[in-house]
Amino acid sequence: MIKIAIFASGSGSNFENIVNRVQKGDLPGIEVTALYTDKAGVKCIERAEKLNIPVHINQPKDFISKSSYEQHLLKLLSNEGVQWIVLAGYMRLVSEDLLHAYEGRMLNIHPSLLPKYKGLDAIGQAYESGDKVTGSTVHFVDSGMDTGEIIEQQQCDIKPDDTKEDLEERVKNLEYELYPRVIAKIIK
Ligand code: GRF
Repeated sequence: MIKIAIFASGSGSNFENIVNRVQKGDLPGIEVTALYTDKAGVKCIERAEKLNIPVHINQPKDFISKSSYEQHLLKLLSNEGVQWIVLAGYMRLVSEDLLHAYEGRMLNIHPSLLPKYKGLDAIGQAYESGDKVTGSTVHFVDSGMDTGEIIEQQQCDIKPDDTKEDLEERVKNLEYELYPRVIAKIIK
């Protein structure tokens, strides 16, 4: 089995979807060791508890530096034998310590057709842009914000009468197909 850890900072619906797919047998050979979150009291923790997935809550503010925070994560990851890291709404740039250890073995999903609309509220940026399409991108993680090598993108329409919430729902639904498909293809 290939062991993956999922990192999230908020809602965790992609995390839940990936775990559901693993539990249904759609991602053969892959095991989710734990949810790693950098925030206490967030919804992804509740989801993990319902799914019986262990949770590691580590808040960078409780460490003397970002490096010591990431070194702590590395110890946990190594104890669990984690081979790949899957970021799913992890709202933090990854630094040298983690990158060095997991270079080429860390994925992220970003809700835009990169290189367009990096950073925060990518769906809002697309919604305001007047574009007729948007989508989501799975990419390898590097030290930049949403800049790593693109693996796969999937697009959807922005319809003239969409509210921002309609568009958010359409992009999320697309991600629930895109991310498991790329994970199955890349993590081997
Ligand atoms: C997703 O849209 C993902 O593309 C982005 O953050 C969002 C996380 O949503 N990186 P959720 O926490 O999985 O619901």
